[in-house]
Amino acid sequence: MFGSGRRVKKWQFVQLCATCFLLSLMVFWGPLDTHVVSHVKSYSYRYLINSYAFVNDSLSLRHHPDGGAGFRYLINHREKCRDQDVLLLLFVKTSPENRQRRDAIRQTWGNDRFARARLNANVKTLFALGSPGEPLQSERERLQRELLAEDREHHDLIQQDFADTFYNLTLKLLLQFRWVNAYCAHAKFVMSADDDIFIHLPNLIAYLRSAEQGGVQDFWVGRVHRGSPPVRDKSSKYYVPYEMYQWPAYPDYTAGAAYVISGDVAAKVYEASQTLNSSLYIDDVFMGLCANKMKIVPQHHVFFSGEGKAPYHPCIYEKMITSHGHLQDLQDLWEAATDSQVKTISKGFFGEIYCRVVKIMLLCKIKYVDTYPCRAAFY
Ligand SMILES: *[C@@H]1O[C@H](CO)[C@@H](O)[C@H](O)[C@H]1NC(C)=O
Ligand SMILES: *[C@@H]1O[C@H](CO)[C@@H](O)[C@H](O)[C@H]1NC(C)=O
Ligand SMILES: *[C@@H]1O[C@H](CO)[C@@H](O)[C@H](O)[C@H]1NC(C)=O
Repeated sequence: MFGSGRRVKKWQFVQLCATCFLLSLMVFWGPLDTHVVSHVKSYSYRYLINSYAFVNDSLSLRHHPDGGAGFRYLINHREKCRDQDVLLLLFVKTSPENRQRRDAIRQTWGNDRFARARLNANVKTLFALGSPGEPLQSERERLQRELLAEDREHHDLIQQDFADTFYNLTLKLLLQFRWVNAYCAHAKFVMSADDDIFIHLPNLIAYLRSAEQGGVQDFWVGRVHRGSPPVRDKSSKYYVPYEMYQWPAYPDYTAGAAYVISGDVAAKVYEASQTLNSSLYIDDVFMGLCANKMKIVPQHHVFFSGEGKAPYHPCIYEKMITSHGHLQDLQDLWEAATDSQVKTISKGFFGEIYCRVVKIMLLCKIKYVDTYPCRAAFY
């Protein structure tokens, strides 16, 4: 008893020292580097206080502005999941003009026939988008006709009647959660992904199958941002005014580039999204606020890259799950990364050592490149 009491006191002392140190940093560094200061502030908030009770108190709506129905569907496929077990519902966030990206995805990781035939998994890939946001009406109408034709061919677009712009990304998030709630609530997992990423579908499915053992709940996995500060620089694309969010740090959230949740989390986030002010247009942060309200905590997975790009190497392909920023090279990467040779390269004693060394060389460089963390080399 006495020992543990002492330990608590010691810990409190350490905490106090850390707080003083951080406060003095804030005071003295203030004029020097606001970027550093905002991070120090947000990390101290995250690691010392870490209470986000204000999410419910300040961001709650008094009434539902749209009755929870959302925008009208311009293109929909309500039958997609009907009468079948769905392992993974994969929403790709896209924009009307990105036809080439969608086609590349349909031929690679977004090919549901591949998932069924080769992985024996029921995956439903859908593209979430708003309506064309071009200034010219004739241009908007032309794009919309093309989308309708594209959908007649592939039957995989889900479109709502809001302008598809950067500042409407949260509306696209709400579209996905509403759609899941209405038409695919029984999916075991739901994924949200950008249209410029690469997903190693076989690795992802294997990972989800192992996570699913014994029932899965409160599952939320991706590249986790901890204690990120809101950007207060007006020239930034991610600028958030104080009126919108007044605290020094966001709750933990996963990078919107790619994250996976279980069906129960999708339901809880949807419920929270109906009660919170959705004016915050950074969609992954808004999702984090919803999850925080429902007390769901994200888990970090070292092979989800967030905004980063994975190095090209078979030893990396063996474990990778997502990688960001793949457009021209998507087809080549898909072929290289899903080649059956990849699984044999690290087999055996020497294979294992070879891949370990390669991964350490690729991931543990001092030079900062945003890719998988060094500890992924030991995973
Ligand atoms: C959240 O806020 C609403 C309205 O402000 C309140 O009715 C509700 O009880 C709160 N919920 C929790 C869990 O604090
Ligand atoms: C978001 O979509 C709505 C509905 O189409 C539109 O009125 C609004 O201008 C859009 N917002 C932005 C910032 O583009
Ligand atoms: C949501 O928050 C914004 C500030 O970011 C505010 O202007 C707006 O009135 C709020 N909406 C509702 C419905 O409370």
